[in-house]
Amino acid sequence: MPSITVQPEFLLERVLSLEIVRVTERAAVSSARLRGHGKDKASDQAAVDAMRRELNKLPIDGTVVIGEGEIDEAPMLFIGEKVGTKNGPKVDIAVDPLEGTTLCAKNMPGAIATIAMAEAGTLLHAPDCYMQKIAIGPGYPKGTIDLDAPADENIMRLAKAKGVKPSEITAILLDRPRHADIIAAVRKTGAAVSLISDGDVAGVIHCAEPKTGIDIYLGVGGAPEGVLAAAALRCIGGQMQTRLIIDTEQLRERTRQMGIKDPRRKYEIEDMVRGDCLFAATGVTSGAMLSGVKFGKDVIETETVVMRSVTGTVRRVMAEHRQFEKFHLD
Ligand code: FBP
Repeated sequence: MPSITVQPEFLLERVLSLEIVRVTERAAVSSARLRGHGKDKASDQAAVDAMRRELNKLPIDGTVVIGEGEIDEAPMLFIGEKVGTKNGPKVDIAVDPLEGTTLCAKNMPGAIATIAMAEAGTLLHAPDCYMQKIAIGPGYPKGTIDLDAPADENIMRLAKAKGVKPSEITAILLDRPRHADIIAAVRKTGAAVSLISDGDVAGVIHCAEPKTGIDIYLGVGGAPEGVLAAAALRCIGGQMQTRLIIDTEQLRERTRQMGIKDPRRKYEIEDMVRGDCLFAATGVTSGAMLSGVKFGKDVIETETVVMRSVTGTVRRVMAEHRQFEKFHLD
């Protein structure tokens, strides 16, 4: 048998790609216990607490760069918080312990617990603001879409690159009044519009999943969610361009502090996630991407998708958890 030399960091990263599954699984189960209770904050807090506990067990020297907010807002998993046992690689971590808090509170489809991890200093430190985003799946020539082009032009270009009529293109957007003009422009081309009430990390990823029938993401969503989605596309391919929306003096100051020199910069995936990364998400409520947590009589079932950019591997982990107590006490 030929001997293969594997760098220790590489091995560790392989191990971490399975370890981070536990992190999102626990966050998903904890928040799923509050599905449909109408308690946005409580379900988010449950996910944050569980995710933090699990992160602190990982053999990493981690820093949260995309988190639940600023330290002075006193949340856990705040930007700059150190996590992990410190016996391991230095990594940047982006978390959204409960992406789609309202979806969970109302028990609607598509809430997930999600995380991305990358070598220290390689994830964009985005403030908690809005971000303009455009994304498509893999297999198209570079430059097929442009954040600065009108929505109808992007649809026409994408239809041409896909070899279909614009009427065979489906765009996904958050259902927000701010998107009225984009929606009208997309519909004018004959393309279909798919509206989601929340959860645009999954919305972007859908563009790279042919079974969803979604071709393009357009519009404005959260910047933290943008970086998480970029990490996923870095693993599975696709194109994405974004720009932060820095529209207050407070945000301008915050972006300066975070080391962002040009707040108007147009980011590509490689600018938001500059090196290899891992991405994982576990379903809280069932959606197009993942099944939600199922509480059985003796077993809790979860579904997680975990991706690794260095190989492009995507794993779906269907887990059955039997130690109920651990989910409460760990
Ligand atoms: P939360 O889980 O933080 O509530 O975010 C849900 C979400 O829909 C994101 O997916 C999206 O990026 C953002 O909110 C959009 O913000 P807004 O609801 O203010 O339009």
